[in-house]
This record gives sequence, structure tokens and C-alpha cells, in this order.
Amino acid sequence: MSSENEIANLLHESRRFPPSAEFSKQAVAQPELYEKAKSDRLAFWAAQANNLHWHKPFTKTLDWSEAPFAKWFEDGELNVSYNCLDRHVESGAGDRVALFFEGEPGDTKAFTYKELLQEVKKAANVLANLGIQSGDRVAIYMPLIPEAIIAMHAVVRLGAVHSVVFGGFSADSLAARIQDAGAKLVITADGGFRKGKASALKPAVDSALSDEKCPSVEHVLVVKRCGNEIDWDDNRDLWWHEQLDSASSEHQSQGFNAEHPLFILYTSGTTGKPKGILHTTGGYLTQAAYTHKNVFDLHETKDVYWCTADIGWITGHSYVAYGPMANGATQVIYEGTPDTPDWGRWWSIIEKYKVSIFYTAPTAIRSFMKLGREMINKFDLSSLRLLGSVGEPINPEAWMWYREVIGSGTTPIVDTWWQTETGAIMISPLPGVTAAKPGSAMLPLPGVSMEVVDDEGNAVGNGHGGLLTITEPWPSMLRGIWGDPERFKETYWSRFPGRYFAGDGAKLDEDGDLWLLGRVDDVMNVSGHRLSTTEIESALVSHPYVAEAAVVGAKDETTGQAVVAFVILRASQVSQTGDEEKVSKELRDHVAKEIGPIAKPRTIFVVAELPKTRSGKIMRRLLRDVAEDRPVGDVTTLADTTVMDTISSRVASGASD
Ligand code: PRX
Repeated sequence: MSSENEIANLLHESRRFPPSAEFSKQAVAQPELYEKAKSDRLAFWAAQANNLHWHKPFTKTLDWSEAPFAKWFEDGELNVSYNCLDRHVESGAGDRVALFFEGEPGDTKAFTYKELLQEVKKAANVLANLGIQSGDRVAIYMPLIPEAIIAMHAVVRLGAVHSVVFGGFSADSLAARIQDAGAKLVITADGGFRKGKASALKPAVDSALSDEKCPSVEHVLVVKRCGNEIDWDDNRDLWWHEQLDSASSEHQSQGFNAEHPLFILYTSGTTGKPKGILHTTGGYLTQAAYTHKNVFDLHETKDVYWCTADIGWITGHSYVAYGPMANGATQVIYEGTPDTPDWGRWWSIIEKYKVSIFYTAPTAIRSFMKLGREMINKFDLSSLRLLGSVGEPINPEAWMWYREVIGSGTTPIVDTWWQTETGAIMISPLPGVTAAKPGSAMLPLPGVSMEVVDDEGNAVGNGHGGLLTITEPWPSMLRGIWGDPERFKETYWSRFPGRYFAGDGAKLDEDGDLWLLGRVDDVMNVSGHRLSTTEIESALVSHPYVAEAAVVGAKDETTGQAVVAFVILRASQVSQTGDEEKVSKELRDHVAKEIGPIAKPRTIFVVAELPKTRSGKIMRRLLRDVAEDRPVGDVTTLADTTVMDTISSRVASGASD
């Protein structure tokens, strides 16, 4: 969490950026939306749901009698793929571009809604031929290419459940997720292009499935993207293009119950084991579509929308694969990194496709701020009319820079707060309504009820800080943790009975606007990606050098937080380890192998002891002080109060990587 001083400074923010009269006039979301939702919340959500196509209409909006397991629109039936594709083709929008794909090497491809539907139908037939049925789980481990989105839609079209695993995760992480979900099929690619080279993916799948580690998997479908050399198992592996070429493009979608499972997405929690967050069909699509339309002010026949998130994260689900397509939007997807071939790549894409709505993360914005505006000024960004931010708090400087340099000083910015668990945006300005304050996510959206509370669960009121809770069920809420209903109740619903605890700190300013202050638990947020301190600690102690490890998220100018590890080496290993630089490199590589490169500690400190309370709990707060280079706080509850002196002097003497 931010320090008290920073919070106080934030709350003195006096700048206000109301939308222009012109923007407000044309805006999708008008001020009445708040009143409508307030006067009858459930009727409001039912009206949003009715913007979708229902194979069988629902008559009940919410059943909360088995809280915290919600049922939304439970007697209705719908098909997500039908809503995102067939519906637009049938209403005459089949020739509208659904996807502009920009490959990293510069190859491009556009799909109209009609073309995309045809591919999805073929892919659905391929999956059905491979025995995939409603309720089966399919793991997707792919680069951001059109086939990834086609695969997701083909899976849900059949009522099967996807588990997309970010391509940057290791073979071990992939195996753990395949096993937990019991996936029958893995869809992958030979590789994807990253930083100018083919980055192989298939070898990680081979390794995840080796030695009978994942017996549930029957087949692996492989998209040929890079043409890199890969191993092949004739009994298991199938080329995507060969299968699709011979598949029929006729496929009638059927309706599934609104509470039918839609997807699982694993995310880090406070323990070492990632949680499989479960979303279901009707409520999820309702809120993904509603928020995408209203928060991004989507005018589907005019706008070109681009969200830079990968499909491996929830943002790539709700605001690439589903929300925009449910609304018939035209969107851009880009396979590669922002610095390839140079840091002008994103801006060249905006210029080329005339992107009008752009959604990215503060960490990216801060990286560009550091580089200066020279590169950006070479491009024509005048098509942009709305900017969005997600994943972590956006500091006022970055907010201002985003608006001035990218948004030509005129575009509204929507700072959107939400989580894998919430499924869709929960807090955000409405772009045509709200006079935004730089750094504040402002208010819960119409239909969403929240409260900032103290440790006892009492509302703190304006001008005070506390813990963010959600007081009423919402349609796109998670329905559970895959295979672990107890953990679901315990993690989110036990701290404040009857309400959802988000794990974030927040403050209400004097106007009642919300300022998000980061996680209050052992979850870190590095470049907008969630990582668990415990998960990285277990990866570190699984290395033979390490006796004990403690990991903290330390403030970082670019990535928001950075992973900093304190390790105690095993005495028996110390003599063989050589210098600390080598140890540090080896341990960082080990974490990358165990979890994935995103979890690599930025810094590793080798220490003799860790600060622990008398009951043996590591006091991460004190380690964070050291990692952030500030005076160490209160040490009186430590079992041995001298430990921090030893650590601080060791760190100061340069014992780092
Ligand atoms: O701490 C909050 C932060 O990201 C966490 C959720 O991470 P994840 O499930 O990976 O989803 C990220 C994309 C939705 C939250 O608990 N967070 C997300 N958006 C914001 C944010 N913190 C501040 N401001 C935001 N706009």
C-alpha cells in the first residue's frame, strides 16, 4: 500500500477534467444511468441482460439464497459465441471488420464478423470431432493471434470451458493448471513472435504433458505460426490448419443455461497455489458487454477499439475476446511487444488503423513517459477520442501525461478498477458524465454497490481510508474457485460476512470519490500482473541452495511493484555457490523456470536471518522498508529485535544482485 504521505498528497488533487459538451452529447452513457440503476438495481441488470440474445428468455434475475453462490438469470439459455458472432451477421453487420490482426513481423490479416464466424464454426466442428462436449475443459496456451480468439469462441460455442494459460508461464505452471482443471485438449501454437524472434510454445506443452503428468489430455491442436522446428507425437498432436481445412463450416449453436460454466482463469492468491476463478455464461457476458459499451463509449459502426492486454489475463477475456465482440465492435489485436522494431510500434498501429479507443496499463504508460515524447510525436494520434487504464493505480503524473501526450489534451480517461474475480469493470468514470480527477477511479458503476470499511466492517465515510468491499452481488462475479468451494468462501466472504472483500485498500475523498491504494494482502502487482509472494517463496525454496526465503513487492517507478527476495542459503551449499552474483542469477532463472519469467525477482538479497514474530510469521512490512530503502519501522514484535540491523547493514554493504 502507498504511504500515508502519498495518500494525503493524492487527496489534495484539485484538478478536474469534465468531458466536453460535444463528447457528453454523443455519449452512450448518460447521467440517468445512475438513477435508473439506483431506483431498481435488479431491473437495471435484467435490462442489460436483455440486450443480449437469449435462446430461452430468463424470468428470474437473481437468486442469492445460497450466498455466496449467486445465480443470475438462471432459467434463461444463451450461447456466448452466437451473441458475439452469429447475431451480428444475422442483423446485417457481417461485413464489418471484427478483428484487425497485426503480427509482430508486420504481417496483417483482417476478419469480418462473417469470416470470423465461419472460422469459429469450423473450429467448433473440429473440437466436437475430437470428442469435446459441453462441460469439458480445454487449455489454451497461445500467442495473441486470431486463432487464439477463434479457439476461445469455438470452445464456448460447444458449452465447453476454456482455461487460457498465459504464454509466458512455464511448463510446470501450465501442467499444474491442466491437472487442476482436468483438461482434455490443449490448443497451442508452434510459437509466437516476440522481440523480433520466434518464441517457441509447443516445447513447454510437450514438457507439461511428459511422463504421463497430465493423463486427462487426449489431444494437442497446434497452430502453425512461426514454422519453428518442433517435436511431434503422432498419437496426440494435430495441426490446426489441417483439421480446419477439412471441417464443415456449418454449425448451429445451441443455448446453454445462464449459469453454465464459461471459463476458468487461474490467478495468484495469498497461498502458493493459484486459484481457478470460475465464471459462468449469462451474468458474465451481460456485464462484460454493458461495461464495454458504456465505459468505453462504444459506437460500434464508427470506433476502432484496441486493448493491449493478452488473452492470458482477464482483461484479454472481457475486453478483447468477449465484451467488444458482444457489442459488434471493430478491434485491433497485436501479437508482439511495444518495442519491436522500436518504441514507435504501438503509435504506428494507432495511426495505421485509426484507433479511436485505446485501453492499456499504467506500467506501459510510465515506460513511455521515461522515453520521452519525441518518438510519439512522429505519429498522428488524432483518431484517439478515449483512453482507458487498468491493472494498478495510475499515479496523477502518468494520468496527466497520458491525456496530454497520447490524448492531445482532450480525451477523457477512464481509470477502470476490477479483478479477475469481478469479471468486468466495477469502478470507473463514465466518460461523458464524470468530471475525472487524475489518479482516481471515481465511482462504482451504475448497478454496482461498494463500501470502504474499517477492520470491523463499518463504513469509514468520506475523507477516510479502509478496505474495499462489494456489498451486493453483481452479474459477472466469480461463481467459485474451481474444485475448492471452501477456499472461495474463506478468501472472499469470511472477513466481512455477507460482503465480498476485494483485498484492496481504498480511500474516499471529501467528495466521496474512490482512490485505490493497492493490495493489502500478500499479493503483488508487477506491471499490472498479479503475483503471489508465497508462490515465489515456494519456488525459491525448491532450489537446493535455499534454506528459507521471503518475498516482498517493493515500489518500482515503472512496473508499479517489483519482486524483491530475501534468501537464507543452506550452510552445506554455501561453499559451492561461489559469488553472490552467480547465486542470484541462478535463483532468478530458477523462478523463471518454475513459474515464468514475469515472476523473476528483480533483486535477491542473501541474508543470514529473516525478521519473524514470536509465532514465526515473517514480517514482510519490515523487509519492504529495506527493499524500498527507507528507515525500518517498528520492530518491537520481532522475536529477535536485532535481526533488522543485521539485514539492513548487509543490504547496505551491497549484498544484492
Ligand atoms: O489491486 C487491484 C489491481 O489489480 C488487482 C486485480 O488484478 P487482476 O485480477 O490480475 O486483474 C487485473 C485487471 C483487471 C486488483 O485487486 N487493479 C486493477 N485495476 C486497478 C487496480 N488498482 C488500482 N486501479 C485500477 N484501475
